Amino acid sequence: MDISREMIKIAHKNAQKEGVSIEFKLMSAYDLKFEDESFELVITVGTIHHFNKPLDFFNEAFRVLKRGGELWVYDIVRNAKPKDVKLLSKMINPPLFPLLLVFKLHGLTEEEWHNLVDISKTAKFKTHRLKNAGAFMKLILKKI
Ligand SMILES: C[S@@+](CC[C@H](N)C(=O)[O-])C[C@H]1O[C@@H](n2cnc3c(N)ncnc32)[C@H](O)[C@@H]1O
Repeated sequence: MDISREMIKIAHKNAQKEGVSIEFKLMSAYDLKFEDESFELVITVGTIHHFNKPLDFFNEAFRVLKRGGELWVYDIVRNAKPKDVKLLSKMINPPLFPLLLVFKLHGLTEEEWHNLVDISKTAKFKTHRLKNAGAFMKLILKKI
């Protein structure tokens, strides 16, 4: 799901190109149109730095998760070390120059990631784990 109609169109095209069938939904992360306890896993990639109300999103993700379910939040580390960005670029293979620019403008600084963990602790999740993988981070929140 995404709040942008344009992004949903791009995702549709990518799925078609890869020959996979995926249902895409236009909606806000703050107002998920799903019943309580619908999912075992909620994943968000590259979006958390856009959210000015991360706690509202955490609470909404908590609501749609089943007991024992997890929320995985992936995003990049702004101003990550060039060696870590180069390593990532080898894995995903985009042109390096725009990638370096992305790391200047997007994602969260390490300090912002730690603030995000503090915010997540005010949501109802029971465990909060931040994993640093060089140029990107993964925050894992578990509903028990
Ligand atoms: C950097 S893009 C990442 C897109 C996709 N997740 C990916 O990995 O390619 C950030 C996306 O967050 C979306 N976004 C921003 N605020 C949102 C919100 N409140 N609810 C849902 N999506 C939002 C934007 O529309 C944009 O498509």
